[in-house]
Parts: sequence; structure tokens; C-alpha cells
Amino acid sequence: MKNLRDFFKSLYPANKVQQGAKPRIVILISSRGSNMRAVLEAIHDGRLYAECALVLADREAAGLDVARKMGIRTELFPKGKSESREAFDARLAERLGREQPALIVCAGYLRIISAPLLKAFPRRIVNIHPSLLPAFPGLRAQKQALEYGVKVTGCTIHLVDAGVDTGKILAQAVVAVQKGDTEETLSRRILRAEHQLYWRTIGRYLKKVTSAS
Ligand code: GRF
Repeated sequence: MKNLRDFFKSLYPANKVQQGAKPRIVILISSRGSNMRAVLEAIHDGRLYAECALVLADREAAGLDVARKMGIRTELFPKGKSESREAFDARLAERLGREQPALIVCAGYLRIISAPLLKAFPRRIVNIHPSLLPAFPGLRAQKQALEYGVKVTGCTIHLVDAGVDTGKILAQAVVAVQKGDTEETLSRRILRAEHQLYWRTIGRYLKKVTSAS
């Protein structure tokens, strides 16, 4: 045995070492899941060094089917009718904790995240929003941008905190508003930028959090 590396290689086959080292992510969705798909494709093609442990939806979401077809484990995890937001998030924190994710990726997840989940995964939940925050937080950000008359808008990846779209900004991409844009045409161009930005930002952030722990 030449050196220590060879010794460890003999204990663990190469693919097992790599597999075990991949940071695990969980993706939360509520709807079509095009961002989820872009992230899963980046993982599949080896552009994003990660493993998706689970795609979880809080409602019947078209994205669940997409994930299943890509061979990813999925789960429907709805909120009970009389369950409070906090009770739901406590239950969700317990469920996600079992997956031991390095990062929780919200991709069109339509719920405000409350204290029990934030406390369970501090600085480990990211979200994507279709505007250049802090401009136009909340719903229909593209429509808000058009109505305001801005010349550029875009998308933002940020950490999730207790506010609505207020967490620390990790990355942004700019998209120009074109003459004659409708909410639909602008949303489509922003979405294309989202699909490029999210997996890259996840990759960078995973490197940071996994090297710190
Ligand atoms: C995206 O525009 C994202 O920025 C916002 O919700 C939309 C989700 O789209 N948070 P998709 O489900 O990823 O296609």
C-alpha cells in the first residue's frame, strides 16, 4: 500500500466514497416544479454535486409526477385542516430531519415557513423569487414589476427567514423588461433565468455550508 489514500480506497470502493460524500438536499414544491426539474437535471448531468433525497409537496403538485419519472423519491405531505402553521412546520421539521439534508430547497413552495422549521434548519433553507428583491416581494412579482414600470427586473435566490422574501440574498440575475411585455412573457423570460441561477447558487452555497460543518 503506497499511501494513506490507497489504504482508504481499499476500505471503501471509489463509488461508495463519492456517493457518501454527496451533500443531500430536499426540494419542497407546491406546483408545476420547473425549477425543481432544472435542479434535478443539473444533479443528473453532474453539474451540481448533490443528491436529492426527497421531493416533498404540501399539495397535489404536477411536479411530483415529474420527480417520480426522474427516479426521485416523492412524498405528499399536506397540512391538516385544523392544524396551525406552527404545528404543521414542527411535523415537517421532524420528517425532513430524518433525511438529514444539508439544504432544503424551496422551489415554488407556496407556504410561509414558521419558527419550528426555521429553528430546525438555521440558514439551511433557500428560496427563489421572481424579482430583484427587496423590490416586489410576495405574490405576482412579475405583475408588480410591470405595473411599477421598472426597466429591469429578474430573480433572487435568498435564505429563508421569518419574513416574506426578506432573507439574506445569495444571488440575483437581471432580466430586462421589453416593450409590450405581458405578465406571461416576462414571467417566461424570468423563469429561464431562474433555471440557470438556482442550481449554480445551490452548488456554491452547499460548498460553503458543508466546508463549514
Ligand atoms: C417561480 O417563478 C419561482 O420564482 C416562484 O414560484 C415559481 C415556481 O415555478 N417562487 P416552478 O414551479 O418552479 O415552475
